[in-house]
Amino acid sequence: MNSNKLALMMLGGFLILSGCVKEEPAEVRTDQTMMNHDEMEDGMSHGEMEGHMSHDEVMQLKDSTGENELIVPPVLERNIDGDVTYTVKAQKGETQIFNGSKTKTYGYNGTFLGPMLQFTKGETIKIRTINELDQETTFHWHGLEVAADADGGPHDALQPGEERVIEFKVTQEAATLWFHPHPHGNTADQVYNGLAGLIFIEDENSKHLNVPDDYGKNDFPLIIQDKLFDENHQLNYREARNEDGTIGDTLLINGTVNPKLTVEKEKVRLRIVNGSNARNYTFKLNSGDSFVQIGTDGGFLNEPVTVQEVTLTPSERAEIVIDFQAIDATSDLALVNEDGSVLLPFDISHSNGVASELSTQLNDFTLTAEEKNLPVNKTVELFGMMDHVTINGKKFDPDRIDFTQEQGVTEVWEIYNKPDMMGGMIHPFHVHGAQFKIISRDGAAPPENEQGWKDSIAVHPDETVKIAIQFKNKGLYMFHCHILEHEDNGMMGQVLVE
Ligand code: C2O
Ligand code: CU
Ligand code: CU
Repeated sequence: MNSNKLALMMLGGFLILSGCVKEEPAEVRTDQTMMNHDEMEDGMSHGEMEGHMSHDEVMQLKDSTGENELIVPPVLERNIDGDVTYTVKAQKGETQIFNGSKTKTYGYNGTFLGPMLQFTKGETIKIRTINELDQETTFHWHGLEVAADADGGPHDALQPGEERVIEFKVTQEAATLWFHPHPHGNTADQVYNGLAGLIFIEDENSKHLNVPDDYGKNDFPLIIQDKLFDENHQLNYREARNEDGTIGDTLLINGTVNPKLTVEKEKVRLRIVNGSNARNYTFKLNSGDSFVQIGTDGGFLNEPVTVQEVTLTPSERAEIVIDFQAIDATSDLALVNEDGSVLLPFDISHSNGVASELSTQLNDFTLTAEEKNLPVNKTVELFGMMDHVTINGKKFDPDRIDFTQEQGVTEVWEIYNKPDMMGGMIHPFHVHGAQFKIISRDGAAPPENEQGWKDSIAVHPDETVKIAIQFKNKGLYMFHCHILEHEDNGMMGQVLVE
């Protein structure tokens, strides 16, 4: 590698890092999160934390003006004839994101983003996937516990015009998952242009719980994505691309620019999906009111956890419930980011919605003493930035198997984020084909709102996270950083489950 280039890159990174620490508004520092509490006690100072968090947030998001009602992704109709459940088509198109102009975009069964697919635990699902793009793509079901041949990783490319039917049984519990493309080296571009859709899984438990579940009324997905539009309102990924993770100044929620959400005075469930290429968000209410988190990536928490804010790195999900009856919001209530930028203003109508109590017992997730005491089977070291990102010192090689694991056997993976000269950055670490449990963060129990099923976790610089992971199915699965440009730049490995 050219060392001049590296030095320049490091210097550039340093300037960005120091720049954004300075710009951090003071209020952020005073309002520390429950989520980070455990880490803070572990000796990470405020300044350090905020500095790393801010690394990705150099470009501030513009406030949502709230002029557009939030788009709710359509529920995909099941096929009526044949035995295929759903048809999912990746296609190109033009979308009116901004009034009076058309943006070139990609979408599933539409021109931008995708519909919501509904699965029930226990059923067998067959999906016909069709590639109508003019480049190869794959259909990856993020968070779904399926055999690797249905997982849609980079080995399962569909060429333009090709189609493939996949089949799997839904064996996991109720959760909010998502799907997106995973072509070798080209994931970031395709997701950025609009390829992302939702999966809701239901089960007996979720059907009987008292949680808001009236889709589009008191149960909303929020696909959070920041974009950088050029002067012609085009996404122009090549121009916007940043090797360290592409970020933008314009927030889209479910593809809506300047969104607002109209709600009644009732409990409203928001299933937040960080579908951004690289940006981390800390969601909170501008009123300072607390809310509850009820779910993580892969299911319900055991009980609602009261929080003031929730941080999500790329691909993580959180389900929260805001009680618009209890909050005395006369005006201007909004979901805001940690820096105060307005993400989603709420318009609270005068009518009362359903006044029901939230179930206090939601799930029976456990991390057993046995799992806690298992020896470490695999170590994963995340390192680098920009194009120089590696896992265990190596870049992705589709022909190399990095790990093997036995089907149905729980192993402990220890993931370490090795800092670089400038401190380093958060890498969101994701494993395909499994939901896992966090055993510890730097030796301490994870915060309450991470004591649930996860498929992606934020790993902070110099932090070590231990997870207990079991694969229910067989095959070759990816594990990688979910900053999509890092993934494309080779921050990915493969585990063969036999
Ligand atoms: Cu969400 Cu390998 O991906
Ligand atoms: Cu995935
Ligand atoms: Cu990364």
